[in-house]
Amino acid sequence: MTAHHEAETSPAACSGTIDTNWPGCTGTGFYNGEHAVGASARFAVTSSTAGSATVVVRFANDSKASRPVDVFVKGTKVRSVSFEVTGAWSTWASATLAIPLPAGTSTLQFTPTTAEGLPNIDSVCTTYGAP
Ligand code: GCU
Repeated sequence: MTAHHEAETSPAACSGTIDTNWPGCTGTGFYNGEHAVGASARFAVTSSTAGSATVVVRFANDSKASRPVDVFVKGTKVRSVSFEVTGAWSTWASATLAIPLPAGTSTLQFTPTTAEGLPNIDSVCTTYGAP
């Protein structure tokens, strides 16, 4: 089962702003996370069974370097990911991550590990079990 979560739509939340100034995002906007270690973008995701989910994060990063991020499920760090430079804030790319999820609803959280903060995050798409 696949579920699509727009950053600007509940049940998602972030420390930062929801912006609309860069074209190419889906829905009506994207997250512009606060530039700080410990900032967060959170999505409530629901899986019917425990297991590895495929999580596709749509993002843009026009800074000079990749932005490293820790990924948490229900407050426990499950992995790290580095969101590469996409070349323009209006150029969106997809990062595909394997994330272990328990059954039920979990908070999936992205937290930057440098003061550059998160990339701009447009959406998260989760696929559980067989796609
Ligand atoms: C620029 C850009 C923002 C982006 C920010 C950043 O200000 O307009 O959309 O979030 O850089 O470096 O994260």
